[in-house]
This record gives sequence, C-alpha cells and structure tokens, in this order.
Amino acid sequence: MSNISTLVPVIAIDGPSASGKGSVAELVAEQLGFHYLDSGAIYRIVAYASQQNQIAWSDAEAIAKLTAQLHIEFSHGNILLNGNDITTEVRSEEMGRGASEVAVHPAVRHALLDLQKQFRQLPGLVGDGRDMASVVFPDAILKIFLTADVEIRAQRRYQQLRNRGLAADYETILQDLQARDLRDSQRSAAPLKQMPDALLLDTSNRTIQQAVDFVLNAYKKTTDTYKKT
Ligand code: C5P
Repeated sequence: MSNISTLVPVIAIDGPSASGKGSVAELVAEQLGFHYLDSGAIYRIVAYASQQNQIAWSDAEAIAKLTAQLHIEFSHGNILLNGNDITTEVRSEEMGRGASEVAVHPAVRHALLDLQKQFRQLPGLVGDGRDMASVVFPDAILKIFLTADVEIRAQRRYQQLRNRGLAADYETILQDLQARDLRDSQRSAAPLKQMPDALLLDTSNRTIQQAVDFVLNAYKKTTDTYKKT
C-alpha cells in the first residue's frame, strides 16, 4: 500500500504547550532541508476564523463546515488566512485556548486531516503537534515526545511574552497551561500521549540546541539502521 507520499520521511514531534517543540521542530527542519508543519497553528487559525464568523468554539458542526472554506498559507514565518496576515492574532494566548477548545471535536480534527497530510512532500517533513505520531503520520520514521515540567514551560512562555513586550502574569500562564494540558490529554479524540514507539525528550534541563541535536542524532541513527536492512 505504499504510495509516493509514504516514501517521504516524516519526523513527528508531539508534546504539550510551551515545551519548545515548535522551535526544535523548525530548527530540525531547517538543518535537514525538510518542510515544516506547525499543526497547532492550524487549530489556532480555525479558532480565530470561528470567532470572526461568530461561531462558538463549542459548535463542532459549524466549525467543521467552516474549515472547508479556509484558505491557509504559511509564508516566510507568516500565517495567512484567505490572503490576510493573521500571525500576531493567532499567536495570542486567547487563540491558544480557542485552539484547544475547537480541537476537542472529532469532526473538526477529521476536517483538518487532509490539509495536514498535504505538507508531506519531498525531501521530508517535520511535523509538530499533539497527534502527529498517533493519527496524522502514524508511519513517521521517527517519533519524538517532547516535554518539560509545567513550571518551566510557564516560565518560558512568560519570558517569551515579556520579550515581545506583551503583558504577562506567571500564575495565570501556569494555570492556563495546566488547564490546556488536562484538556489535551483527557479528550477522547486524539489525546496527547506518548506513543509506545516514540522517544521521550525532556527539555526541562536542556537548551533548544541540545534538544535539536538529540533529534538530529536520533534521525541519523534511524536512517543508518534503515540503510543496513
Ligand atoms: O501547539 P499549540 O499551542 O499552537 O496548539 C494549540 C492547541 O491546538 C493545543 O493546545 C491543542 O489543543 C491543539 N492541537 C491539537 N492537535 C495538534 C496541534 C494542536 O489538538 N496536532
């Protein structure tokens, strides 16, 4: 059942919010010359578009219908929806929360599957999210579960927002991350969890560069093994 797309190698990086998986995935993709899929951004776009269309984040059917009409583009680090740059809007904490609310609906997840699979193009793809390894690319050549202690993640998110000159409150961020972790890992559709064949990468005491090196080494080992068999 191999078609051309299953011959394209995928590195799946899943993990909770603010674990650093986005930065790691992007740098790994850059080093390997691979494409990069930020699947969280897609859920954020859906939350944003729903709000713009006065659709409640709880309205699964209307949101699933809406996703079919969205024209999403990623261009030089910018996020475009129907031609408009909405990068700043979708990166907000509000849209992070909205994304995790729209993401609980199986119909919405289903409506976004093909769009995500289309990113699988030569010479390869690094995908980051919650269900890259379990649902979207179950045949990924390498699966990484990237995490960090919730307090450390809250601290990183706090710094990130401060560096961007945005108002931030550590306690609120911590509570928000805990609520999002709970929602992401306890939902019935594609819950966040480490797959049995995924490598655990805890970045609590690692720099981004160390995490990138871990993934690149693991990828090299995997491809070396493939070449030998
Ligand atoms: O990774 P990011 O924080 O941008 O994701 C926002 C939300 O989108 C997550 O909290 C999660 O609920 C949802 N998401 C998901 N599946 C993915 C990526 C993101 O459910 N593959």
